[in-house]
Amino acid sequence: MALKAVTSRPVEPVMLSQPISVDQLPTPALVLDRPIMDGNIQAMAKHLGRHSKGFRPHSKTHKCPEIAKQQITAGAVGICTAKVSEAAVMANAGIGSILVTSPISTRDKAQVVNAIATAQLELLLVVDSIEGMLAMQAEIDDDKRIGLLLDLDASTGRTGLRDNDLLLRLLDDIQSDSRFNFAGVQHYAGHVMHVHDFEKRRDKSMRAWERLADKFELLEQRGMRPEIVTGGGTGTFDIDVTLEYLTDIQVGSYIFMDEEYRQVGGVDSDRFQGFDLALTVACTAISQPQPSTITVDGGYKAFASDSVNPVCDALPDVEFRFAGDEHGVLILPSADTAPGENEASRVRLGQVLEFAVPHCDPTVNLHDQYWIREADGLIHSCWPISARGCSW
Ligand SMILES: Cc1ncc(COP(=O)(O)O)c(C=O)c1O
Repeated sequence: MALKAVTSRPVEPVMLSQPISVDQLPTPALVLDRPIMDGNIQAMAKHLGRHSKGFRPHSKTHKCPEIAKQQITAGAVGICTAKVSEAAVMANAGIGSILVTSPISTRDKAQVVNAIATAQLELLLVVDSIEGMLAMQAEIDDDKRIGLLLDLDASTGRTGLRDNDLLLRLLDDIQSDSRFNFAGVQHYAGHVMHVHDFEKRRDKSMRAWERLADKFELLEQRGMRPEIVTGGGTGTFDIDVTLEYLTDIQVGSYIFMDEEYRQVGGVDSDRFQGFDLALTVACTAISQPQPSTITVDGGYKAFASDSVNPVCDALPDVEFRFAGDEHGVLILPSADTAPGENEASRVRLGQVLEFAVPHCDPTVNLHDQYWIREADGLIHSCWPISARGCSW
């Protein structure tokens, strides 16, 4: 039932009968600048190609089959999804290779895996527990083939196994069952991604991988060299490529960029380098209860609020403060509060302003569609966020 509900969702882009400007959008509206996103996709594909690493972008960021298809066209070896429901949406839209990066531990999730596993799909899952392995052994049909990666942890403490006996037990279980094949290992050091200083980020990431050395040795001793060694993200896109044994990187946020990432330092800069802001939320100024502030129509329901605040690049001296579910308050500098005789205030009621989003993944999950802006600056189409709410 739940599976049917997500696989019956629309996935195709919808063209508008005529292009419109951002000012004409029903705000708050999620705006995606397609040429900038394309540039980010190409830049990442080229960078990883130069380092002979596979490009396995994480679709938890965009949740949109149309974008996943564009990443595949740009050379991605496959996509990642965080959960089995996201995988169901992507598989249903025709994506041919999917790695689900969160382990499962129950039979109901294993049933979903069984339902989406087809001969046309390379379906890869991570495993880090006996419970997860038992659930899959109980539910996967004899004629299905699932690639299993061991999810390894040493320092993050989110998912992944640390115990070497468990690693060997799971390896035995995988090897002795014809429905499964040992596809490799995954390691994602999420706590490293937003370390501001580049050198510190590099050291932390290298240390996190080094801590897995005993596990790689165990696999070597067993004669089980992992075909796939996958991990990393936007924060380590230019760090983890130096690891010889890493086969591919699971970059997600680079495609849009968000304010949280923009504030992370690059190799020789205080700001993140290499990717541009492609995603904004357009909001309308709707009320001005006092001269020093103006209220826009986007709050917690338009922006994820787990990190920094939204930022309007066109008005860098204007501060956004959340003011509840539906509203944000802009703190105006004094020049806007009392403009001179011939000066108009830069912010007026009815004006539409675009904001860089604090954290892109959970912001996308608040919206039904992207409004797609093309090179002429106009909105031409809508792309459905088909895996919205697929957090199960
Ligand atoms: C397992 C895993 N891989 C990759 C990513 C992508 O990370 P980023 O958005 O920093 O590129 C995430 C994001 O949380 C993740 O959980």
